[in-house]
Amino acid sequence: MVKEGHVEVMARSKRKTATMPAFYSRPRTFMNQNQLKQAVAQAALDWVLPHLNDASILGIGTGSTANFFIDLLAAHKHHFAAAVASSNVSAERLRAHGIEVRDLNDVTEIGFYVDGADEADPQLALIKGGGAALTQEKIVAAVAQTFICIADQSKRVNVLGQFPLPVEVIPLARNYVARELVKLGGRPVYRAGVVTDNGCHILDVHDLKITDPQVLEMRINQIVGVVANGLFAARRADILLLGTDRGVQVSQRSDKAQ
Ligand code: 5RP
Repeated sequence: MVKEGHVEVMARSKRKTATMPAFYSRPRTFMNQNQLKQAVAQAALDWVLPHLNDASILGIGTGSTANFFIDLLAAHKHHFAAAVASSNVSAERLRAHGIEVRDLNDVTEIGFYVDGADEADPQLALIKGGGAALTQEKIVAAVAQTFICIADQSKRVNVLGQFPLPVEVIPLARNYVARELVKLGGRPVYRAGVVTDNGCHILDVHDLKITDPQVLEMRINQIVGVVANGLFAARRADILLLGTDRGVQVSQRSDKAQ
């Protein structure tokens, strides 16, 4: 189950409940998309900060919303040990701020993973991979104890699939995988010119109406040549911080203790 709440208290109230952390200024004027992304990045930071200590490792996602989070995190770099990044570009940004980046193989525990999304459904299943970093994102999310997804309101949908589903494929298998995806009802489009951090290609699958994300995620993973697909349903977000005109909306899985 997912619990939802709008939080419209004044700036940084200290109010805390089992399901909702302290929250966030209610926007006084209409916010543009970047301001909404910044607001949810700040909300994620406020959520995470009280849990950090000098041994903490943070998982960091990829994309413009994750970038806002990285930039805000920089001021607190002495409050945690290091980060694990889900892409080379995020690793570079973290290092530019003087934040240590560790290889995931050198880390056994990640408390929080903070990342954006291309779509989020009411059960907190996601489509990710618009930035072509889906495989590493999935891996870091799998290791993390708590996955906090941060997104602006344009990402919220009832049924996933309006955003074309990214599928990372071994280059040699690209056309074979594309034919298999057509059999599943999709219209795969090769993201020409994009090579992932793993040296692979991306197919963006249009026209999917994803009513059962977990089943489709598994089904696509079974196609030989698929590295990973951008459905985050088996490992969905634990918390969604959504930037809306009414403030930061918090959705939290009630089956997941924080
Ligand atoms: C990258 C991702 C991003 O999280 C997703 O594309 C959202 O990006 P943005 O925060 O720029 O809207 O999955 O692979």
